[in-house]
Amino acid sequence: MRAAHPFAYPLLRASKAPVRRVPGLGVLVRDADLLRATLMNTASFSKTGPGAPSDLWTPVLGPAVLLNMEGADHLALRRKLGSLFAPSYVDPLAAESLPTAALTARLRSGEAIDLVDEVKRYASAMISQLVGLRVSEVDDDLFDRVSSITRFVRLARPRLTAPQVERARAILAELTSHARAAYRAGDEQTVPGRMRSLDLSEDEAMGAVGAFVLTGTETLVSYIPRLVALLVDSGWLPFLAADRALVEPAIAEGLRVTTPSPVMLRSVVADDAIGPVAVHPGDRVILATFAANRALGPFDPSANVAATLKQLWFGAGTHFCLGAPLAMAQIRLTLDALLDASSTAAPLRIVSRAPARGVLIPSYESLVVGTA
Ligand code: HEM
Repeated sequence: MRAAHPFAYPLLRASKAPVRRVPGLGVLVRDADLLRATLMNTASFSKTGPGAPSDLWTPVLGPAVLLNMEGADHLALRRKLGSLFAPSYVDPLAAESLPTAALTARLRSGEAIDLVDEVKRYASAMISQLVGLRVSEVDDDLFDRVSSITRFVRLARPRLTAPQVERARAILAELTSHARAAYRAGDEQTVPGRMRSLDLSEDEAMGAVGAFVLTGTETLVSYIPRLVALLVDSGWLPFLAADRALVEPAIAEGLRVTTPSPVMLRSVVADDAIGPVAVHPGDRVILATFAANRALGPFDPSANVAATLKQLWFGAGTHFCLGAPLAMAQIRLTLDALLDASSTAAPLRIVSRAPARGVLIPSYESLVVGTA
C-alpha cells in the first residue's frame, strides 16, 4: 500500500479518530459501523455530486453507469443487470475462461510462474467475455491499457484533467466497439448480446461494460497475488491445502486485511452528522474501508473476525459490489488450482516479489511462485 500511495497512505493511517475532517481532502471515516451507516444513508450521502465518484467517472463513462447513479434509475439498472452476475451464470463462465487446470500442471512440473501476469491474463479473459471478444483476440497489453486509466486517479484530485479524460475515453471506445457489435448482433452467447435481451438500451449496455472493465479487473489482479503472499508468509497455505474447509474463511480474512478497493467516496447532499462530526451539502466523505477492516486485527482464518463485517470490503447497501459473485468465482478457482499444486514434499513458495508503484489499487508488480 505504501508503494502505491507513498503520501496518502501514511496520512490516512496516521489519523486514529473514527471520523475527522482533513483540510483539503474531506471528512475521513475509519470506523466500520460509521462507515456502514454512511453507505446505508442514501438520503444524505450520494455517489453523485462534488467530490463523489460521478466527478471522476461521468466524463469518461457517461451519466448512467451504476457507480455514478442514485435512486430509482440506479435500482432499475441494477435489477436488469442482476442475472448477469448470478452465481449460476458466472461460476461456469469463470470455469470455462480460466485455464486453472493448466496452472496446477505447470506448477507441479516445476515451472516458476508470475502470478500477477497469470491473473492479468485471467482478468483479460473475463474482460473479453464481458465485451464480446474471443479470448484469442485479447492481447497481454489489454490489462495495462485499462489500468492506465485508473492510474490517473489521485485522492487529493477529485476530477481527471481534460487530456486524461480524452485518453480514457479512447481506450474504452476501443473496447466498447467490440461490445457494440456484439450488442447489435444480439448474440446471446456474449454478455453484450445478453444485455440486449435483458432490455438494456445500447447506451446502458456500453456504460455497464465500461463500468465492469474499470471496477472488475485491477481489484482481482491486486487481490489474488496478495492473498497468496499472505498465505505463504503467514504459514497458513499448507493447512488450507490439507483442509479445504479453511478456504472460505481465508478468502474472507484476506479480503478484510487487504481491502482491494481501499477507499469509497461520497458527496454530502443533506445536513447530517457522521458520529460527532457535522457534515453539510457539498462536503466530500472519504470512507477508509481498509483502515476500518484492518483495525480488527491481523490475518487469521481460524478467528475469522471478517465474518462480523458482512463483506464490508464489497461495500454495503444499494451500491454493494455487483460483481462480487464473479470476483469470488475467480478467486476460488485460482486458489484451488494453487492449493492443488502444493504438496507436503513440494509446497508452494514465493520465488521473488516486487510491489507496484504509482497505482490506484495497491498490488504486486510481480509475484513469482513455484513448488520446486
Ligand atoms: C476482489 C474484487 C472486488 C472488490 C474488492 C470490489 C469492491 C467493490 C466495492 C467496495 C464497491 C462499492 C463501491 C461504493 O459503494 O462506492 C463495488 C462496486 C461495484 N463493483 Fe466491485 N469489487 C470487486 C470486483 C468486481 C468485479 C469482478 C466486477 C465486475 C466485473 C465488479 C463490478 C462492480 C460494479 C459494477 C460496482 C458498482 C455497483 C453500483 O454502484 O451499483 N466488481 N465493488
